[in-house]
Amino acid sequence: MLVAHCEIVMSSDERQYMRALATTATRRGGAVLEIGFGMGIASSMIQEELSVARHFIVEANHQVLQRCLAWKNRLGQMCARVDPVSSLRPDGSNAAAAIHCIDGFWEEVMPFLADSSLDAILFDPYPAVVTFEFLRVASRLLKPGGVLTYYLARPHFVPSVASDQDFWKAQQEQLARAGFAVADVPEHLMLRLRDDCGAPQLATCFYRYLAFLVPVAVKR
Ligand SMILES: C[S@@+](CC[C@H](N)C(=O)[O-])C[C@H]1O[C@@H](n2cnc3c(N)ncnc32)[C@H](O)[C@@H]1O
Repeated sequence: MLVAHCEIVMSSDERQYMRALATTATRRGGAVLEIGFGMGIASSMIQEELSVARHFIVEANHQVLQRCLAWKNRLGQMCARVDPVSSLRPDGSNAAAAIHCIDGFWEEVMPFLADSSLDAILFDPYPAVVTFEFLRVASRLLKPGGVLTYYLARPHFVPSVASDQDFWKAQQEQLARAGFAVADVPEHLMLRLRDDCGAPQLATCFYRYLAFLVPVAVKR
């Protein structure tokens, strides 16, 4: 479990959702940018896909960044020991050489990355959420056909949002304005809502969300 500012920002129970995000982010292989290392769950899943040639991870928290660097080193040592040949990336580099742990906030780092240089972006700096500013930068960095996916949870306590479909529609409009093509129906996973997750416990109850969605936004 990862806790920051007295809030749980990541729990290992989220593996199923991270798997869906990582699978979306690796469908083209190539160069993948991930925002937020957290517990490294999605990062490890991205590394399972050998067609990923480069994996950039931007992490703002210094302690978490140290864990990211340690994870990268362990992975490199493990690959070299266990299977030095088949763990090589398409360009002949090993897994660890293909990983770049970058210190900083996405807001500071992404402006320095080149236009149309990425095949996919996985954005999960929870509790921060996707903004239109982010979508515009992401659109600039992705190659045409590149895929953006991100952490998207529909809170069950917002009464004005009637359904997943309404919630998705608002996302869809923003994505389209930023230059993405998106499906009318989001891919989503339902996660169990805890019975004891009533309003008074909201601040401490991690599963306060009804639906976890998996946006698949393709750069036009
Ligand atoms: C929920 S965790 C990510 C979980 C991760 N997907 C996993 O599978 O373990 C969010 C991470 O984003 C980082 N973060 C928060 N805001 C950020 C920002 N603006 N730029 C980069 N990283 C950020 C936090 O320090 C934290 O490590």
